[in-house]
Amino acid sequence: MKLIAPSILSADGGRLAEEIASVEKAGADWIHVDVMDGHFVPNITMGPAVIKALRKATRLPFDVHLMIQNPDDYIEAFAEAGADWITVHVEAATHLHRTLGQIKKAGKKAGVSLNPSTPLSSVEEILPDLDLLLIMSVNPGFGGQQFIQSSLAKIRRAAQMLAGVPTKPLLEVDGGVTLQNIAAIAGAGADVLVAGAAVFQTPDYAQTIAALKAEAHKT
Ligand code: DX5
Ligand code: ZN
Repeated sequence: MKLIAPSILSADGGRLAEEIASVEKAGADWIHVDVMDGHFVPNITMGPAVIKALRKATRLPFDVHLMIQNPDDYIEAFAEAGADWITVHVEAATHLHRTLGQIKKAGKKAGVSLNPSTPLSSVEEILPDLDLLLIMSVNPGFGGQQFIQSSLAKIRRAAQMLAGVPTKPLLEVDGGVTLQNIAAIAGAGADVLVAGAAVFQTPDYAQTIAALKAEAHKT
């Protein structure tokens, strides 16, 4: 099953609750929430207080992507705010095994994300501890960027790597996913497809999400 996770980074920031309710109604599977701190990435978005307020807008899982330094300091706060999946960046976590344990201790699903330049080998030792592996197919920080083509081969290798893990972590892809390339990305083995601009910059979310799902299930 291929899941579509609209990224609210590209939604209308003045009407976030409404936008979330709209994509839920339109058939979204998860809500992807990008948290940026202005240090790990050159952009700043939202923190736990806003996520807590948005939690009331939907029953869909909140897929919280932490693009922040020192993620250990904030995991409890995001868990309490209503995150269901918490993903940290391997490049920002010094003691990744401990960080993943902290997420699970908070009762949440634990994910790890890799920047485009970070090799898959950086997570080799902690594969059995993962609920989700997030492959970035753009350099994180902004919505609407172009998919980095070499990511396809990396996604394929990641899928092979995860297939051998007994707990079967999900493979998520984030960045530059469009109606034109989603079939290839899903075909390479992605389970969860994040789509920001590809959803929120279209007039009819239901039509867009249905089209993305149809393409994703083509292969
Ligand atoms: C980028 C974020 C993405 C972003 C994706 O740093 O992590 O989730 O919102 O946006 P699109 O789908 O527009 O590339
Ligand atoms: Zn993201």
